[in-house]
Amino acid sequence: MNTPAPPAPSLDQIRAQFPALSSSTAFLDNAGGSHLPRCVIDAMTRYMAESFVQLGGDYPESLAAAENVAGAHDMVKLLLNAHDAGEVVLAQSTTSLCHLLASCYERSPRPDRNEIVVCTAGHEANIGAWMKLAERGWVVREWRAERDCKSDTRGVAQGSWRILPHTLRALLSERTRLATFPHVSNILGEIVDAAEVAAMAHSVGAKVVCDGVAYVPHRAPDVARLGVDWYVYSTYKVYGPHAAALFGTREALAELEGPNHYFIPRDRVPYKFELGGVNHESCASINGLWEYLCFLAGEATLPARRDGTRARDRAIVERAFGVMERLELATQSMLIEWLRARRDIDIIGPTHADARRVPTVSFVVRGQSSRALATRANRDGLAIRYGHFYSKRLVESIGLEPDDGVVRVSLVHYSSPAEVTRLIEWLERALA
Ligand SMILES: Cc1ncc(COP(=O)(O)O)c(C=O)c1O
Repeated sequence: MNTPAPPAPSLDQIRAQFPALSSSTAFLDNAGGSHLPRCVIDAMTRYMAESFVQLGGDYPESLAAAENVAGAHDMVKLLLNAHDAGEVVLAQSTTSLCHLLASCYERSPRPDRNEIVVCTAGHEANIGAWMKLAERGWVVREWRAERDCKSDTRGVAQGSWRILPHTLRALLSERTRLATFPHVSNILGEIVDAAEVAAMAHSVGAKVVCDGVAYVPHRAPDVARLGVDWYVYSTYKVYGPHAAALFGTREALAELEGPNHYFIPRDRVPYKFELGGVNHESCASINGLWEYLCFLAGEATLPARRDGTRARDRAIVERAFGVMERLELATQSMLIEWLRARRDIDIIGPTHADARRVPTVSFVVRGQSSRALATRANRDGLAIRYGHFYSKRLVESIGLEPDDGVVRVSLVHYSSPAEVTRLIEWLERALA
């Protein structure tokens, strides 16, 4: 018989974990970077106070430092459901990881496969790095977001801008080496069926690079189930430090040379892809996330992660993200339903408020500048932003002036109904 899951903490208990949420500002800009729970902050300071030394020694502090770095790779492995920690590369940002990957592909050309399909509806991090390969003789094909002309049977409104996997098919061929795309656009908010994209690319022998930055703050990806070859995300959007992680399957990693020193063997993954030392204090924070996920999952004590069984640890991760999803669905529908009811507002992206999207919601007010509106909101204590959010090509293709762009409200699980109500009431006054 299944034992029932322990009760999840209340929203008040969750918010109490985040020191920054005691501010009077309503923080609705989480897609730019989330706040950190106290345990994640403490893990970093503890590490810096106790074992901030170089790896490779046999003295206790150096062994602790090595355990910290290995632990962070293992934590990402668990979060993404990778097979082993050797499939996880850590670095400073998603942008730098995409550039690193692109330069590795550039140095491992295959004349029979010199085409790349790039989804231009994503963040520039996973576009520009690949576009540059066109200067080196690669053929780059653009996969664009489209206005969905049919209202689909699942209720996505007609006319929504979407990234539609079936529109990728015509761009793929036996010459395609890679297809790159976002798991969620940081403007549109809808979850792209990454498994479908990966299967389509694999059917012609191509690999995929999925940008999970806008997805992982909301759901725990399962790279094994999705079947993606590469998956990248930024830890500072997932209640952690300014750093990023790249998953690659063993096969995808082995195909490339890796940029590290000549004496680092080719089979030493992930080290052959990690230039210099990884950021130890970031690793400590990444490790600290385990404590927060256990808290969200309702675990009464803190189970030792690396001593536990993989299935138990993954179940805790999935329960924690299940709690996040339930909380987010409530605030997401409050916001979207209000926006949808306004005749003077256009939501950019699908307008449904269900689990097929995340609560990163962009809109424009007809006849009004996004900049002016967001700036006024900021002055009144509402942290929202405007612009193209580095998804400039998407915003341009929608026909918006990119510097003014959209107003974006981005919630996560700790965003409260009271904060959303405060924003809605402010918008009602501002647009009256
Ligand atoms: C969807 C998406 N991809 C990539 C990035 C770039 O991440 P980083 O700042 O780690 O380079 C961002 C940053 O906002 C993003 O939203």
